[in-house]
Amino acid sequence: MPPSLVERLDAIEDLPTIPHTMQAVLSSLDSAASSADKLEEIIREDPVLTAKVLKIANSAAYGAGTEISSLSRAIVVIGFDEVRNIVIGLSLSGIFCDDLGFEEFDAVDIWLHSIGVATCAKMIGQEVDGLDPEEMFTVGMLHDLGRILFCLYFPDELRDLIATIQDDDASLTEAEDQYGLAHTEIGAYLAYRWQLGTFMVNVIRFHHHPHKAGDHAKAAAAINLADAITVQLQIGWKGLGQPPKIMVPKILGLDSAKIKQIAKKLHGEKEQIMDGWSSVINA
Ligand SMILES: [Fe+2]
Ligand SMILES: [Fe+2]
Repeated sequence: MPPSLVERLDAIEDLPTIPHTMQAVLSSLDSAASSADKLEEIIREDPVLTAKVLKIANSAAYGAGTEISSLSRAIVVIGFDEVRNIVIGLSLSGIFCDDLGFEEFDAVDIWLHSIGVATCAKMIGQEVDGLDPEEMFTVGMLHDLGRILFCLYFPDELRDLIATIQDDDASLTEAEDQYGLAHTEIGAYLAYRWQLGTFMVNVIRFHHHPHKAGDHAKAAAAINLADAITVQLQIGWKGLGQPPKIMVPKILGLDSAKIKQIAKKLHGEKEQIMDGWSSVINA
């Protein structure tokens, strides 16, 4: 990362801190005491969060013929991992649901995009050896946090950059590379500040250039693929400039039939993501 960028980011005094709930959930996973009881305890501390979790859990379980009215029931019906992922997604909503000052970048759309990418990355994680599906969900939720910071702290540069895309018919990633300021670097810096560890930092940093991610190339390739599928299915933010190409990174070992199957599965969840999650924003 260019030292000048690090200096500029270091100087920002109101950089978002890691949401308390997210930190609590992530650190409870590190310990052997990770359990449904612990998760329930974390959620229960916050009645608004509890209500939102139940609302999304009910929309996820729609059709199961059962009403979910308690956290313990949610864990039984949709599963511990699903409930935890809902909490991780919701814990970031405060950061995502701000006015960013750009019509090209709507925070809620980027949040929904992140939920789409996280959901798809989890699906890819279930198909590819060596990836942890739940870890993929978390990094999917975080992968574009740098976009939010880009809008909030580098608005002049972003306006310049948007103009170059319109002139050159380039993709946003290409334009950022040429411009020398990328949401991936900014996001990786935030993950570093939040002490999320090398895996998260690297995957966020290289999610548009997975081949540079070293030991984490597989996970970065999974996010790259999930990102392209999510944009193509128009779940949340629709991108800017040329759409990302759907690459079938060899490293994932997925054939095109498998990729189509994953895209179809994500398409099946589109409505739940768009309606279920949006419904809690102004609740
Ligand atoms: Fe990105
Ligand atoms: Fe993305």
